[in-house]
Amino acid sequence: MTTIQINDIENIHEAAREFINQIGDARVFAFYGKMGAGKTTFIKAICEELGCQDVITSPTFAIVNEYSSDTTPIYHFDFYRIKKLEEVYDMGYEEYFYSGALCLIEWPELIEEILPDDAVRVNINEQEDGSRTITF
Ligand SMILES: Nc1ncnc2c1ncn2[C@@H]1O[C@H](COP(=O)(O)OP(=O)(O)O)[C@@H](O)[C@H]1O
Ligand SMILES: [Mg+2]
Repeated sequence: MTTIQINDIENIHEAAREFINQIGDARVFAFYGKMGAGKTTFIKAICEELGCQDVITSPTFAIVNEYSSDTTPIYHFDFYRIKKLEEVYDMGYEEYFYSGALCLIEWPELIEEILPDDAVRVNINEQEDGSRTITF
């Protein structure tokens, strides 16, 4: 198990680089954590560190956003608003998850049964002092 500690938001890009160094051959990452834990913020930092431009984190965010990084396409998913798994089938999730591109997923709880077997589960927890602990 790997732990990355973010004591201050100023260190988020350093933390993102640490995460990137651990990616290896893994392609699908499921980010678990409460609302406000920092999932979107951390994923945005990862995308930026991988060279993506114009990373979107606004509330109008669609289920999936695609970015071009320096090396691979990146798909950032937010399944928070999903009501039925059918919506995820309809968006053609398999083409993303099994594309070999990097997939970074928020609210994987809502699509647990279709997460690839080799998805890496990442937990983000906010500590009492406001720091974040990332484990995977
Ligand atoms: N590592 C961090 N340190 C301090 N504040 C953070 C950190 N990550 C996120 N935040 C703040 O917490 C709030 C929620 O972050 P967000 O990434 O939207 O959470 P989530 O996507 O898990 O709901 C934002 O105001 C953000 O600035
Ligand atoms: Mg979020």
